[in-house]
Formats: sequence, C-alpha cells, structure tokens
Amino acid sequence: MKVGVIGAGTMGSGIAQAFAQCAEVEKVYLCDIKQEFADGGKGKIVKAMDKLVAKGKMDQAAADAITAKVVPGLNEICVDPDLIVEAALERMDLKKACFKELQENIVKNPDCIYASNTSSLSITEIANGLQKPIIGMHFFNPAPVMKLIEIIAGINTPEEVVVKAMDIAKMLGKTPVQVNEAAGFAVNRILVPMINEAVCVYEAGVADVAGIDNGMKLGCNHPMGPLELGDFIGLDICLAIMDVIYEETHDSKYRACPLLRKMVRGNRLGVKTGLGFYDYSAGVKEKVPTSRQTLIGEA
Ligand SMILES: NC(=O)c1ccc[n+]([C@@H]2O[C@H](COP(=O)([O-])OP(=O)(O)OC[C@H]3O[C@@H](n4cnc5c(N)ncnc54)[C@H](O)[C@@H]3O)[C@@H](O)[C@H]2O)c1
Repeated sequence: MKVGVIGAGTMGSGIAQAFAQCAEVEKVYLCDIKQEFADGGKGKIVKAMDKLVAKGKMDQAAADAITAKVVPGLNEICVDPDLIVEAALERMDLKKACFKELQENIVKNPDCIYASNTSSLSITEIANGLQKPIIGMHFFNPAPVMKLIEIIAGINTPEEVVVKAMDIAKMLGKTPVQVNEAAGFAVNRILVPMINEAVCVYEAGVADVAGIDNGMKLGCNHPMGPLELGDFIGLDICLAIMDVIYEETHDSKYRACPLLRKMVRGNRLGVKTGLGFYDYSAGVKEKVPTSRQTLIGEA
C-alpha cells in the first residue's frame, strides 16, 4: 500500500511514521508546501527512529528500512497512492482546495481513498463540490503512539469507504471508533471545552497553573493537566476547535476563553513556540509554569 500524507507538521509527520512502521505499507509520500517543511517532517521521523534504536527497542536496519519508505516532497509527488491522509492546517478553504487539486490534477489512482485528519470540521462540507468522497480519520497526538482513530462519515461518504477506513486503522494496530459527524466529533467535543474551562478558571484567578494541572492529575487521575495538555496540542488548535464548535452550535457554553484567544494572537501556542501556560526554554521536560504577570499582565 502507498500512502500520501498532506502536511508534514506535528500530525503529518506522526501519521507518516505510523504508516511507515506498518509492514503492509511500502511507501509514504510526506508532503508540504515547501520542500524544506517536508524534509523537516521526515527529519522528525528519523529522530524518533534514532531514539528507538538508542533505547534498544529497534535495530538500526529496521529503523533504516522504515525511514527509507518516507519520501518527502510537494503534494505533486502523490501520483499513485492508495490512500491520502490530509493533515494540513485546520482551515476549511485550505482543506477543500487541497483535495480538489489532488483529485483533479495530481492523483492518478481512481480507487484512492481520501481521508482528512481534521479535528473538528464537517466532513460533509469538506467533500462538498469534490469528485470523490471524503472520510474523517482523526488521529490523536502523538500519532505513532495513540491507539484511537475516530472514523467519521459525512452524509455522502459511502459505507464501503467507511469499512476500508476502519480496516486501515486496524492494519495500523489502532482501535477505530466510528462517530457521527458533529462539531468536534466525540473526543474533542468533550476534551477541548474542558481545556478551555481550565483557561477560564486560570483567568478568573481561581487557581494557578500548577494548581489547576495538579488538581486534575491528582483529583481526577488525568495523566496530564488540562493546561499542559493544551500546550501540548497547540493552543491555536484548541482555539480553532472551540471556534468551530461554537460556530456550529451557537451555544454560549462553547465560547472560547478570551485569554486563550489573546495567547494565540500573541503566538504563545505552547510547546511548538516554546511558550504557553508553561515556559519550555529549558526543554520540554524542564518546563516551568509561566508567571501570571507574563500571561495576564498583572502581578
Ligand atoms: N495537533 C494535534 O494535536 C492534532 C490532533 C489531531 C488532529 N489535528 C489536525 O491535524 C491537522 C494538522 O495539525 P498540526 O497540529 O499537525 O498542524 P501543524 O501546523 O503542525 O502542521 C500543518 C502543516 O501543514 C502544512 N500545510 C499548510 N498548507 C498546506 C498545503 N496546502 N499542502 C500541504 N501542506 C500544507 C504546513 O506548512 C504545516 O507544516 C489540523 O487539521 C488539526 O486540526 C491536530
């Protein structure tokens, strides 16, 4: 099987790694808008393999065979894939344009399946106006590790495409869960409003960063606190998901916290920009809570 992954960022490189590690997959095209971005995505996979070798979990020959399957480039290299997984930015116009270009001008395999890794957007709307159906294959971060894939059918997605997507998820060793189309699907509809509420609780001065995260870890047995999880996911992604759920439902309980929006506007996106609710300048493991003065502008 050959797979094209569109977008070589956090999710795209992880998804490409998950496919490359699968015996049934012979080639993974890892694509981005610039060759250097695609090369960077492959670089992350090489680093991940190096770590597995260093830990004795994989031998060098197996690691080399996995990385050799990953071909970085522009979207134009996706001529013969059996599956496309789109993991570009969370923007409807961009996803629609990407699929249109792939379906009409790039992919030559008539049986190719087109999947989107969108966190929240309508699969029906992405597919609207396209020649071929779209299915949602929602991976979780980090994609090589997390076991769940939400499989989302749009109103016009044929059942056979749903079945194939479920089988592909199982081929990867993941557990697929079929969910109905709804803003945020099932997991993010629950998870991201919780992260947003944690930001509101922080903004209101109810508890500090460590207090909120320790509270949810020790009081609710969550493996990560909501603020560190927001930093890890990317606060821009969290905001985009809140806005999509709010736009779709117009229910005020999904209103994004103003502090979340302000942080995104200030490029304080969490781990990926080195500053969010934690400061990562000394490394991810050595993170320290960001001061209230830095976050809110008050002592
Ligand atoms: N971050 C998460 O935890 C997470 C989890 C599940 C799903 N998602 C979804 O996955 C998608 C990607 O998220 P991410 O966190 O990897 O974002 P990211 O910003 O890390 O990466 C996006 C990449 O897409 C590239 N890109 C933009 N336009 C493109 C185009 N036209 N063609 C090819 N590449 C293009 C960008 O250059 C960038 O490298 C989004 O839809 C997001 O909602 C994210």
